[in-house]
Amino acid sequence: MALQINPQMSFEQQQKLKEELLSDELIDLAKEKYLPLETLMAYYRCVIMEIETKFFVLNEELSLEYDRNPIETIKSRLKSWDSLVKKMRNKNLTMNLKTLEENIFDVAGVRVICSFQEDIYRLADSFLRQDDVRLIEKKDYIKNPKTNGYRSLHLIVEVPIFLQNETRYMKAEVQFRTIAMDFWASLEHKLRYKKNISDADAEMLGEELLICSQMSAELDERMQMVKNKISVAEKS
Ligand code: GTP
Ligand code: MG
Repeated sequence: MALQINPQMSFEQQQKLKEELLSDELIDLAKEKYLPLETLMAYYRCVIMEIETKFFVLNEELSLEYDRNPIETIKSRLKSWDSLVKKMRNKNLTMNLKTLEENIFDVAGVRVICSFQEDIYRLADSFLRQDDVRLIEKKDYIKNPKTNGYRSLHLIVEVPIFLQNETRYMKAEVQFRTIAMDFWASLEHKLRYKKNISDADAEMLGEELLICSQMSAELDERMQMVKNKISVAEKS
């Protein structure tokens, strides 16, 4: 039944509407629909915490070994309900939680940002070697950048969360970027969602970004080389 607030309503009509809105049946219905969704989202928040902790631990250990922190920052996010619905519609998926869990792998997203490219592979390897981390998919856009210049290492993984009475594996997307890769991706993302940019300007900026991406890849490589030389000098 569609309930509508109408400013012309009499006091009695308003009271009746309030009663209907607060009826037990309606509250039960809301709970029945809302609670499973809230629970699933809570599980995704938990897997983000588990993954973040794994990286905090690796960062701590590697910082003892190398005398610097390999991880610059970790940015995590839960995909908004709006984006989830859009993504499911685009993929022609039926709107239910089972389909969501089985088909959308980036509800939970963790982005690990490092200074150097070598740290990315060191961290990703250590993470994937852990007994409870299952690799579902790996996309290496560092070795094979996208045609627009996008670089990043993407992993889709399953990691367990430990609940009161069960252990539940949850999927998540982990993206590894250097600071330079992240800087580039943020700007490119802005261009992608700008509506009032002419096609000609968008094309010109796209070409410019491709050049920036090549420059940032070179910067990453050269900074890595300098750092490696410093490390060798420190050891001798
Ligand atoms: P979906 O998972 O269905 O979105 O597609 P996919 O699996 O082919 O995506 P992919 O793994 O290539 O990328 C997933 C995420 O990486 C996106 O949500 C972005 O966060 C990021 N990403 C991928 N390509 C680009 C890009 O060209 N530019 C920027 N800025 N980010 C990108
Ligand atoms: Mg994806």
